[in-house]
Amino acid sequence: MCGIVGYTGHQPAKEIIIDGLRKLEYRGYDSAGIALLEGDHVVVRKKKGKIANLEKAIAGEKFYATTGIGHTRWATHGAPTDGNAHPHISQDGKIAVVHNGIIENYMELKEKLEKEHGITFRSETDTEVIAQILGVLHQEKKSLQECVYEASKVMKGAYTFAAICEDEPDRIVAFRKDTPLIAGIGDGCNFLASDVTPLLKYLDEIYLIDNGEMIVCTPDRIEIFDEDGKPVHKDSLHVNWSVEDAQKGGYQHFMLKEINEQPKAVSETLGRRLDDGNHVHLDGISLTKEDLANINKIDIVACGTAYHAGLIGKYLIEKFAGIPVEVDVASEYRYRDPLVDEHTLFIAVSQSGETLDTLMSLREAKSKGARVLSIVNVVGSSVARESDDVFYTWAGPEIAVASTKAYTTQLICMYLLALYIGRLNDHITEEYSQKVIAELKQLPDKIQDVLDHSSSVESMAKLLYNRQQVFYIGRGLDASVAYEGSLKLKEISYINSFAIAAGELKHGTIALIEPETTVIAIATQDFLYPKMYSNIEEIRARHAHIISLVKKGHEDIRKISTDVLEIPDCMDEVAPVLAIVPLQLFSYYMARERGENIDKPRNLAKSVTVE
Ligand code: M6R
Repeated sequence: MCGIVGYTGHQPAKEIIIDGLRKLEYRGYDSAGIALLEGDHVVVRKKKGKIANLEKAIAGEKFYATTGIGHTRWATHGAPTDGNAHPHISQDGKIAVVHNGIIENYMELKEKLEKEHGITFRSETDTEVIAQILGVLHQEKKSLQECVYEASKVMKGAYTFAAICEDEPDRIVAFRKDTPLIAGIGDGCNFLASDVTPLLKYLDEIYLIDNGEMIVCTPDRIEIFDEDGKPVHKDSLHVNWSVEDAQKGGYQHFMLKEINEQPKAVSETLGRRLDDGNHVHLDGISLTKEDLANINKIDIVACGTAYHAGLIGKYLIEKFAGIPVEVDVASEYRYRDPLVDEHTLFIAVSQSGETLDTLMSLREAKSKGARVLSIVNVVGSSVARESDDVFYTWAGPEIAVASTKAYTTQLICMYLLALYIGRLNDHITEEYSQKVIAELKQLPDKIQDVLDHSSSVESMAKLLYNRQQVFYIGRGLDASVAYEGSLKLKEISYINSFAIAAGELKHGTIALIEPETTVIAIATQDFLYPKMYSNIEEIRARHAHIISLVKKGHEDIRKISTDVLEIPDCMDEVAPVLAIVPLQLFSYYMARERGENIDKPRNLAKSVTVE
């Protein structure tokens, strides 16, 4: 979603800001713009569409500014047009603002500005309200810092924004409310941004800005102030992601790179949490036997792919630890007044750690007394910071909008957590735990084995890429894998696809099966195999194209399937980590054959920081 970049230093700001915006492209956007402090004037340039459009529009202009702000907008209020793109300026043109979030009371503020101050709005956005409020306050001879502070008190909603003012050279003032903001500590220059990716090539020390904090950046200082305007002293955080981590590294797309990084990512997640004796350790997470005795239910809450990881987490925790688990999508959970108290363990799952619905659900559960543990990829993200304990996935940066390695590492965290809790409350034996851990440790090699056979998936996609609809079916853990496989396909190939528990087919959905339908039948669970076999027979009777996904050795499935995809033999419990890989590859190749924009699919954002 919207991305903010700011730079103040001694180098030409335009290039640095545009380069930064490019690094934020993966978040999703539909227009881009910059504001520069050019001499004693604020200069704003903005364009609908890609950053390339903006660059083209300003190609003939020379800018000398060394301070500026930039923005990629993902439209919420008002269509993606040049006029609605950020930055927005105050009526007198002295102040420019970029914003990430939604100002809920913007209509009320707009009417007040129109009536009481004669402001004429130029855009349909909520953001312009910020620029106009700052402009009105500035006319009362207030400094930019005072204006930002006062403006932050009258708005409601999510409003992280950055502003520059032509009366205050070399200065950016920014405020954070509910959407992410970090400040980067450079050498003779300073930065601010929505996430760390634009900054990796310049620095490795950042400040995580908290909700309600304001920052004032000049080339040689970053000052941070709290909600009462008092200075805040905080430690910087060392960033250990490298520039290479956030580059394609020879792959055609980030998604393919990230799919191929899964053996390494899974190995890293396991390595961080297993000791030499193959026991799970949760260093940094204080979950004692007594804590556990106090917990009578677990709520797992997340969105999209992370929710699908939660579904598998439920199965694992209930099986390994015998504690009842509910899984909910965050946008529902936060508004359904969930039954939560101090005996609830709330688990938030989020790659970005910035998904607004997940964050709000976390706050809801916390306010009711729940203990909060999060499974998060981005270190220092909002979800991580607001949790009592964090189980990092250590997947490295995930740039493609379609989540792949974040999902598999979220699953690994679920296995480790479920095993840990299961041993703590003696629900499983040490022998069983060791057996599962031995299987988990084989996963990186087995995932690699699946990746080494990706050409068969590619050939399949070459034949099927123009199909209109694809169904995914499975039972038990495979039903959750089906949901994730289906989401992957629809989000990047735009093929109409949905997933259903195979046993539900006969209750309605089988009516849709016809010869043109492709059905991916996932049958990796040995004890459910005969049931899946019967479901596949039923589909075959309706002449659909059936791709069965099974463990190696199920030769009988070939008799009733059009195609077969295989994963290495493994314990049923760990099969989801392998089964998802050919499905990720299938989605990737289908989308590639269709010529789609794989890393940045239409209408989607990597980090969903608004409702
Ligand atoms: O950053 P999060 O894990 O909280 O994001 C949740 C979803 O928005 C995300 O998983 C989304 O569904 C992906 N595009 C799926 O590939």
